Amino acid sequence: MTPQFTRLLQRIGKPLVFSASLLPLAWLFWLVWSDQLGANPVETLSHRTGDWSLRFLLLTLAVTPVRRLTGWNGLQRFRRMLGLFAFFYVSLHFSVYLIFDQFFDLSTIIADVAKRPYITVGFTAFVLLIPLAVTSTNRMIKRLGRNWQRLHRLVYLIAILGVLHYLWLVKADLREPLMYAGILAVLLGYRLWWRMRVTDKNRHCRVS
Ligand code: HEM
Repeated sequence: MTPQFTRLLQRIGKPLVFSASLLPLAWLFWLVWSDQLGANPVETLSHRTGDWSLRFLLLTLAVTPVRRLTGWNGLQRFRRMLGLFAFFYVSLHFSVYLIFDQFFDLSTIIADVAKRPYITVGFTAFVLLIPLAVTSTNRMIKRLGRNWQRLHRLVYLIAILGVLHYLWLVKADLREPLMYAGILAVLLGYRLWWRMRVTDKNRHCRVS
């Protein structure tokens, strides 16, 4: 990559990724405005926002492996933004459920979370994402030090719960949730392999 191209990406990269991340929302607005949500608008909204929540979670997890494989360190700058967009789309997803599915009926929601396993799992993932979003600022990173990294490892569990939520709610065609499960397995498998490689290297250095 030429230095000019790197500089250009540094300048327009973030606004570009930010605008691209808003496209699914713009698309949803378009579907609402043009009355194209289909026979069951709430279900369509719930599915589309759920899909984008999971996609942004996986995109966030893909940043580090892609950076290591390509050597393109500038990618790291987008990780926080992608993670926050995952939180944004999950919040929308939960809002659709809260407002249009349950009409703010808290007792039904509590019963639903307790009774339906896929709601329990999705809700847990959403709640676990909140501390990650809250501590994503530079100030919190500094303040929490090493504990910040420990806390943010929760994102692996959250992604597993997100995939489980999808697998659990699908009744017939498992192809799509299994595809997400496969992508997540590759991303987590790569991290595990990397960790083992680093540990192995350190051990060799200490022995020699
Ligand atoms: C990290 C958290 C979450 C992720 C990644 C996620 C992801 C998804 C995905 C991928 C779908 C299926 C979309 C499709 O069929 O195309 C879905 C559906 C759904 N999710 Fe979530 N979700 C999360 C949290 C939640 C929460 C907190 C709730 C409510 C408490 C919830 C309620 C639902 C409902 C009601 C559906 C539709 C189920 C149906 O078709 O009957 N989700 N979600």
